[in-house]
Amino acid sequence: MASLRFSVTFHTFLFFSLWVVEAHTSRKLISTKEQEVQNNSHLLKDGEFEDPTLYMFFKIDDLKKGTKLPIYFNKNDLRKVPPLLTRQEADLIPFTKSKLDFLLNHFSISKESPQAKAMKETLVRCNYKAIEGEYKFCGTSLESMLDLAKKTIASNADLKVMTTKVMVPSQHTINYALHNYTFAETPKELVGIKMLGCHRMPYPYVVYYCHGHKSGTKVFEVNLVTDDGKHRVVGPAVCHMNTSMWNVDHEAFKVLKIEPRSAPVCHFFPLDNIVWVAK
Ligand SMILES: *[C@@H]1O[C@H](CO)[C@@H](O)[C@H](O)[C@H]1NC(C)=O
Ligand SMILES: *[C@@H]1O[C@H](CO)[C@@H](O)[C@H](O)[C@H]1NC(C)=O
Ligand SMILES: *[C@@H]1O[C@H](CO)[C@@H](O)[C@H](O)[C@H]1NC(C)=O
Repeated sequence: MASLRFSVTFHTFLFFSLWVVEAHTSRKLISTKEQEVQNNSHLLKDGEFEDPTLYMFFKIDDLKKGTKLPIYFNKNDLRKVPPLLTRQEADLIPFTKSKLDFLLNHFSISKESPQAKAMKETLVRCNYKAIEGEYKFCGTSLESMLDLAKKTIASNADLKVMTTKVMVPSQHTINYALHNYTFAETPKELVGIKMLGCHRMPYPYVVYYCHGHKSGTKVFEVNLVTDDGKHRVVGPAVCHMNTSMWNVDHEAFKVLKIEPRSAPVCHFFPLDNIVWVAK
């Protein structure tokens, strides 16, 4: 059984995070190609520096029926979900850092605000070229995300979407808290699958940042259940088999208490991520 991972965290580095915002002035905002910083201060309870989003990582040895892990599947804060643009609308708006001043003005966002900083981070991240062995792009509309996903991993193959779903019996409401979950079944490896994880980025309209690795990744479909049987989760999980090129300070290594770059790192996906898979 996995031990509980109460980690004292002042930064959150998650390469699947959704919001790039600074949580506290004393926290350094560090961002690399693989990492993003998430403002989770609203999730901290009673001054505990316990960051629930870190309960997404697990070790490859945990990936078997019967393993129990504390996991926090976040709820989308609907107030924070910006409008979804059609491709025609999105294509009329520049999407490059060199136009940041114009964009801030266009969306009435003050230059010094956290939102402006987050927008800049998003534009910078979206303009990174994929490094060797990686897929990477941003979709500013669902149509463009689908086209790019097809072009990137599917060619002529069928593309499927996987998302993480939390299910409760009909008379219950979902309690979005940290729960202990047990793998109810042997995780099913999706062999020969190419995948892209798409994460919503902080931006005045919906922008997805999608990335994936050409090799060295195993994709699984997992089925988890809480001890009381009231919460079931079905969704994708991914294991990065070769972490030798990761930043040594990657939070995953700390959370999992493993020697940096020494072992595979696996993670589940937040509820509002879109995972594209193709044979
Ligand atoms: C981080 O989140 C907290 C709570 O929601 C908020 O008060 C604070 O302004 C946020 N910080 C930034 C830099 O957005
Ligand atoms: C998970 O299980 C452990 C050990 O059984 C227990 O100490 C912990 O409080 C549980 N955590 C939650 C969030 O229920
Ligand atoms: C991991 O990746 C590095 C860099 O691409 C490579 O040199 C190394 O051989 C890989 N290790 C394994 C076990 O595949």
